[in-house]
Amino acid sequence: MKHLVCHYDDLLLTQKKSVSIDRKPIVVVRSESGDVYALRDVCPHKGPCLSEGMLDKGCAGKEVGEYIFEPDKDVLRCPWHSWEFDIKTGCSLFDPDKVRVKTYEVTVEDNKVYVEV
Ligand code: FES
Repeated sequence: MKHLVCHYDDLLLTQKKSVSIDRKPIVVVRSESGDVYALRDVCPHKGPCLSEGMLDKGCAGKEVGEYIFEPDKDVLRCPWHSWEFDIKTGCSLFDPDKVRVKTYEVTVEDNKVYVEV
């Protein structure tokens, strides 16, 4: 079922909004490109709200000390221990197959943002 969470214009670029739908904590994120995503607002490690974390660009590397900037990947960084989650997929950067947060389908119609729960 689709739930109205906010107006698109009220969610500024790179901003986050914490909402509760059917008692589910959800963070709605507007990326730098303007696309909107929704993820479960709970870090799978110890449980703080990801909405209190920072939205940033991804950074990868296969060797210690290697940093490869990923300008096309937007990540939400947990405020406690800095695990990073791809806002499009919910997958963690360090173990994308095993550690992830749930994502929800988002639609934008007539300047309104809806999340499917
Ligand atoms: S609680 Fe989120 S990374 Fe530890």
